[in-house]
Amino acid sequence: MNRRDCRTGSGGLFFCRNRKFKSKKWQLSVFLLTFAYYKPIFTKVEKAMPINCIGILTSGGDAPGMNAAIRAVTRSAIFSGIQVKGIYRGYRGLLTNEIVEFKTQNVSNIIQMGGTILKTARCTEFRTEEGRKQAYENMRAAGIDALVVIGGDGSLTGARIFANEFNIPIIGLPGTIDNDLYGTDTTIGYDTALNTIMECVDKIRDTATSHERLFFIEVMGRDAGFLALNGAIAAGAEAAIIPEISTEVDQLEQLINNGFRKSKNSSIVLVAESPVTGGAMALAERVKNEYPQYEVRVSILGHLQRGGSPTAHDRILASRMGAAAIDALLEDQRNVMIGVANDEIVYVPFTKAIKKDKPINRELLDTLRRLSI
Ligand code: F6P
Repeated sequence: MNRRDCRTGSGGLFFCRNRKFKSKKWQLSVFLLTFAYYKPIFTKVEKAMPINCIGILTSGGDAPGMNAAIRAVTRSAIFSGIQVKGIYRGYRGLLTNEIVEFKTQNVSNIIQMGGTILKTARCTEFRTEEGRKQAYENMRAAGIDALVVIGGDGSLTGARIFANEFNIPIIGLPGTIDNDLYGTDTTIGYDTALNTIMECVDKIRDTATSHERLFFIEVMGRDAGFLALNGAIAAGAEAAIIPEISTEVDQLEQLINNGFRKSKNSSIVLVAESPVTGGAMALAERVKNEYPQYEVRVSILGHLQRGGSPTAHDRILASRMGAAAIDALLEDQRNVMIGVANDEIVYVPFTKAIKKDKPINRELLDTLRRLSI
């Protein structure tokens, strides 16, 4: 049977010239087999609902590039004929009805701005079932059919629960300086934070060299060492103490045993904030007690790492991801985070993005070790 012999028709399940294929029994089996094989496609088509209006919010810690993402989502949606509503202060805005219609002008002149024009919050009420029910009712009352959530680990966890509970299409964008979401090479804000760290360490190096001191510089990252490790390489630091390998070796002991000051009078060590590393203060205390020959100082970079105008990398990443979020919704994707892996847009299921640990590239550790002699 070639394609010309068999085509769909209204007289039966299929209209076929060949007698064998004309029998109703045969046609029914073909239909059932086709349905079983392509069930996911049939299911998807059944579930598809037209998306006329989307809501957009930023949640959790702000990150440079969030505004570029808001702009990209808004403009791509409007370009595709979809209405946009900006939700202020993250999930809290859904509970308190801080919802405003966004036109293209609402997102003019924001691509270069740090922070988020939508404001952000960490909302405890949204962690409760009643809170999410209220949020859903407000969202529906505002005519919102789908959500785009820009945020980190906690925000996407909230999105996953909300989407499952109320069967809402939600697309996540990875917005966090920590770079700790699985499935994307980098997150929005990470590159800017990394550059800020590099500039700060460059400055601290001047005083460290002049006074011949050992400096522990604590950087953000929650429980991930991406900022510390890559920041150390970019700034030419001697070492990075990161949570990913803190349970394997005593990194401080290793640093001292490697004779880190053999060829230098000053040293800079980047420390990732985390209970696992203990943080810069605890390490400095250890040095004071165990290696009193070193004059040690601590600098905690803190929230200045979250501010500032986004780098070109973050603006481009946020723009691509924002546009891809609308493509994803139009393709009836849901419960996925947009990622960029090997320069390609990818859809990462929330469960993977949140739950799977993003591994540190061990080659970077080796590079840092070799270059710090
Ligand atoms: O998740 C981003 C982040 O900046 C982490 O690196 C840091 O641990 C945390 O947020 C700080 O949160 P907050 O601003 O609420 O103190």
